[in-house]
Amino acid sequence: IETTGSQPEESSVSSTSLAYPSLHSSTSLRPVPFQQPSSLLTFSYNPQRVLEFTNSALRYYIDPPPGADLRYGYERWIKRPEEKSRLDGLLRAIERIMEKADTSMGLGSGKKWLREIAVVTWRGVMTKILTAPYEERDGCEFNAMCVNGTIYLEEHLSDARLAEKEDIAPRHRQQTYYGYSFESWCTSSRPGIPEQIDGHPIGWGGDVDTNVQWCSVIKTKLGDNRLVVGGEVDCVRGEHQGRTDKLVELKTSMSIRGPEDEARFEKKLLKFYMQSFLLGVPEIVVGFRTPAGRLTTTQVFRTIEIPRLVRGKPGAWDPQICLSWGQHFLSTLKSVLSSQATSSESASTPRVWRVSLRPRDGVTITPLDADGVKEVQGGEDRVGFLPKWYYDLVSR
Ligand code: A3P
Ligand code: MG
Ligand code: MG
Repeated sequence: IETTGSQPEESSVSSTSLAYPSLHSSTSLRPVPFQQPSSLLTFSYNPQRVLEFTNSALRYYIDPPPGADLRYGYERWIKRPEEKSRLDGLLRAIERIMEKADTSMGLGSGKKWLREIAVVTWRGVMTKILTAPYEERDGCEFNAMCVNGTIYLEEHLSDARLAEKEDIAPRHRQQTYYGYSFESWCTSSRPGIPEQIDGHPIGWGGDVDTNVQWCSVIKTKLGDNRLVVGGEVDCVRGEHQGRTDKLVELKTSMSIRGPEDEARFEKKLLKFYMQSFLLGVPEIVVGFRTPAGRLTTTQVFRTIEIPRLVRGKPGAWDPQICLSWGQHFLSTLKSVLSSQATSSESASTPRVWRVSLRPRDGVTITPLDADGVKEVQGGEDRVGFLPKWYYDLVSR
């Protein structure tokens, strides 16, 4: 760890830099244990994008029709606008988990439980952190706060970056749709029975509305850090029993035509793997497609077997490097944030930090100034980036 920033006063807050680990063989690393994720609760966003503590958005896996057309229904896609990916939904879930603890184990149990949690975040954030040592192209930024010993992490999207995401090229937009269309072809509202909707081909699961999502909130432990992580789950195989062992992740990818495509796919498998591994999703169904969006084949991967599949291949990666890095990153983040928990201007509110992951270079952790905090609040009723109601709930 290298610390920069050299203002002479004692109260000055400095920036911390972390380099990524070497990608050469992890045999010298002590394996970092990762606890099997266990489900805390599930929830749904309905078409109005209202969060419900129901399984209304849960879908059941069904084999897609051979040669399915992934362009089908594109004109009818109801696309959720790009927005800042706040933690609000996950925090509602945490409030509910705490209420349940209070009811079953006595008042105060919820808070006691939360105090043991080192990190609360969405799965997408953890995936980006853990795969960062291998990322060659995209950087990303997070906001971080520590409240009562728990670190909250949200992705930071500037207004400019949001506008950029909303304004994607038509071709790219079409390709993004293939992924959602595959989800529709692969799912049904009833286990084992293909959907049959009037006016649509058999097997079409319904027109795509990306407001609708089914989410799972799990707890796990990476090294000595307990994590609460929430993320979208595409569907379940068979009946849903409330556990993670029947969950299925759906993915599309271009058909593999040669060794270069294969190496590219093996690299991509790191993201598929980490995304599913973090939520305890044991199965990934990949739909291979032509450039024009015609489904060619599907292949089922057992999540835990993926690292062995890529070992020694051209696109190889090692999950131990990611986990060991993740443990190192989280421990550093914890010590930086808790040593300078509050800002000098107001000792009562937690400081907000910006974490930047730069491809190849490493990570910086920097305190935000007043303008930065204002941008993060976005004119809403928030303490830093946390909703005021949640901050009041957990800080008292
Ligand atoms: P594919 O992954 O099949 O391409 P998820 O796989 O996480 O369930 O996401 C479903 C689909 O959302 C993806 O399908 C992709 O089309 C789109 N998607 C997810 N993350 C994206 C991102 N960062 N950029 C663009 N599209 C994304
Ligand atoms: Mg999904
Ligand atoms: Mg998916």
